[in-house]
Amino acid sequence: MSEPILELRGINKSFGAVHVLHDVDFTVRAGEVTALVGDNGAGKSTLVKCIAGIHPTDSGEVLFDGRQVSIHGPKDAADLGIEVVYQDLALCDNLDIVQNMFLGRERGKAGVLDEADMEQAARRTLASLSVRTVKSVRTPVAALSGGQRQTVAIAKAVLWDSKVVLLDEPTAALGVAQTRQVLDLVRRLAEQGLGVVLISHNMNDVFEVADRIACLYLGRMAAELPTKDVSHSQVVELITAGRSGDLGIARPDMAAV
Ligand SMILES: Nc1ncnc2c1ncn2[C@@H]1O[C@H](COP(=O)(O)OP(=O)(O)OP(=O)(O)O)[C@@H](O)[C@H]1O
Ligand SMILES: [Mg+2]
Repeated sequence: MSEPILELRGINKSFGAVHVLHDVDFTVRAGEVTALVGDNGAGKSTLVKCIAGIHPTDSGEVLFDGRQVSIHGPKDAADLGIEVVYQDLALCDNLDIVQNMFLGRERGKAGVLDEADMEQAARRTLASLSVRTVKSVRTPVAALSGGQRQTVAIAKAVLWDSKVVLLDEPTAALGVAQTRQVLDLVRRLAEQGLGVVLISHNMNDVFEVADRIACLYLGRMAAELPTKDVSHSQVVELITAGRSGDLGIARPDMAAV
């Protein structure tokens, strides 16, 4: 088993009176894909946003590379090497691939952008991820397919010497071939040594690429297991009932209270 790169311990998060995350423990390992699964509203996106510094947590500890850290905003997360690809991707249609990848973090000196340098870095990153379907890095994002956009968003996330990349439903809107490309890319990120978190509702995708599966049930971590130790139906039970045989929360009915 590889080393934990990111560890959350006892995370709690409420929005007003709504307690969304309850004492959540979650570990991301370098070189592995961890799938984060759970029903709609289980708290997956909230957990990711807590990691990314978008939501402050109410209590709990975060360890990065074994050191305790505090993440108070997206910049703290980015400085640690944590990048998130959100479901809506947050790409600008009217800008080209290079402009999108460097948006807000442009390179240059004395107010002059170093276009050649950024273009080269964008090309190098796409090539390192073996992305071949994008013809030119000067193509406006509006002209790309859904899969290509997802690829650009992921490449943008790994451009920054990232250590942990969290992907919130990267294949939700994609067809078969495009899903294939994105899943291959997810595997490649892990092979390059990154800690990858994949949120997905698709059990086939999860079982295909994940080394471990973490299952949230009503804001509680019901189970965190190696993929090889669970079956599809056990994971579905953990998602829908918080429990499957000996696995999961002892009394899931109490979790709802
Ligand atoms: N900003 C917010 N303010 C208030 N409540 C919120 C906020 N964000 C999320 N919630 C609530 O937190 C709970 C968990 O939501 P979250 O988006 O994390 O679920 P999810 O597991 O990502 O679901 P899905 O699979 O549908 O994306 C929901 O009950 C939701 O209504
Ligand atoms: Mg979500």
